[in-house]
Amino acid sequence: MVSSLLALPSTFSRLNLVQKSSIFIPFTFKALSLLKFHKQPRLRPFNYPLLHFPSSLNSPEAHFSTSRRPVSSKSFDVDLVVLGIETSCDDTAAAIVRGNGEILSQVVSSQADLLARYGGVAPKMAEEAHSQVIDQVVQDALDKASLTERELSAVAVTIGPGLSLCLRVGVQKARRVAGSFNLPIISVHHMEAHALVARLIEKELQFPFLALLISGGHNLLVLAHDLGHYTQLGTTIDDAIGEAFDKTAKWLGLDMRKSGGPAVEQLAQEGDAESVRFSIPMKQHKDCNFSYAGLKTQVKLAIASRNIDAKVPLSCASSLDRSSRADIAASFQRVAVLHLEERCERAVEWALKIEPSIKHLVVSGGVASNQYVRARLDQVVQKYSLQLVCPPPNLCTDNGVMIAWTGIENFRVGRYDPPPPANDPDDFMYDLRPRWPLGEEYAEGRSEARSLRRARVHPSLSSLVQASLQQQ
Ligand code: KG4
Ligand code: ZN
Repeated sequence: MVSSLLALPSTFSRLNLVQKSSIFIPFTFKALSLLKFHKQPRLRPFNYPLLHFPSSLNSPEAHFSTSRRPVSSKSFDVDLVVLGIETSCDDTAAAIVRGNGEILSQVVSSQADLLARYGGVAPKMAEEAHSQVIDQVVQDALDKASLTERELSAVAVTIGPGLSLCLRVGVQKARRVAGSFNLPIISVHHMEAHALVARLIEKELQFPFLALLISGGHNLLVLAHDLGHYTQLGTTIDDAIGEAFDKTAKWLGLDMRKSGGPAVEQLAQEGDAESVRFSIPMKQHKDCNFSYAGLKTQVKLAIASRNIDAKVPLSCASSLDRSSRADIAASFQRVAVLHLEERCERAVEWALKIEPSIKHLVVSGGVASNQYVRARLDQVVQKYSLQLVCPPPNLCTDNGVMIAWTGIENFRVGRYDPPPPANDPDDFMYDLRPRWPLGEEYAEGRSEARSLRRARVHPSLSSLVQASLQQQ
């Protein structure tokens, strides 16, 4: 056993290309448990299990290969307890999850009121709102789980993509908790978390799989080869589908307090989806990229031509006005989703060529809570005998569970940072990644229609993880 432990690779920072062993004291699982135990006696000591690696530990791929679940003994899974913190956009969320996927608590403080008032996320106001509630949200998560910080094994936190000002609030809190209680910290990619939470609810979901991630700020089709290894098949060239739902709701005068998407979905049920002939975006581009800016304009024009006044709330609209709004909602939703369907079909074909063993399409992110989206995409995957995996709605929209779970997946394979100091200096430079791709672009899928803003984009998560693996 001792020799196996000595043979373990030192942990490396999940994201920075620096092997921590070269800077810090070698930090094996064993060292970690001793360190924690020495400084901070725990009520129930967490036993870090032996990692089982293939015999040839010198080959790079022997380390941290994650296609199987490498560290997954029952006691490891039950004893591992991770706090996840999410503040990348307008929801302040925290959750505590066990290594076996048991959700011990989940708390979300939404800024929907601010969103309804200002019709969008204002970064400075969102930052202030996060700062006001972050301590309480984390405390509530601990209380609901009947735990104290001392009983945690690690803290996971979103470091990007998202709004810098907002990300900073979560990262500062995570570092304060981790530093004060001597806990390792795991940096999480928000979009990876949207995809991986599907593995918490569907235990059969193995890599590789295809994922469609649809939210307020992102429209991504990614092929998930392995943990930390993604190929981007498509992304949006302008707006994401969630943004189109939100603007449609605003212009139709709908109640935005639960965000625009659910309001449009509900009103669409009353409307005739064939009544307004919106055109499907990017039909002529045979790739997997998305565009919703043009559809937004079409909706705006349709609303103007029917003299709908957004200042008149839906509840006060005449029945003719109401049915006209419902027709627009239904027609918009139909075409917005037709665009998803068309892109997904192509992505499935591409994905099956690259990874013929894929069996699942994961659909996650806030818009994946939409029942119409789910039903239509289910029909797409059935054509290819694949299975659709959609997390439940409260795990599709931003939440702390997905961050904690992604932390767990990475912790299991040794991707975490050692505990930070109890107090960061005032001028500490936080590692925040507001614009951060998940994977490298699929070269054959490049579109001439792309007008993507490329300025100041951080290297992708996948390229960082792959480079780190090669350095092992
Ligand atoms: O993933 P998420 O919670 O936050 C981001 O990372 O953006 O997604 C929020 C987006 C919003 O645009 C919201 O309107 C949309 O998800 N959304 C929906 C539904 N529920 C939330 N869109 C359509 N139908 C829904 N039921
Ligand atoms: Zn999100």
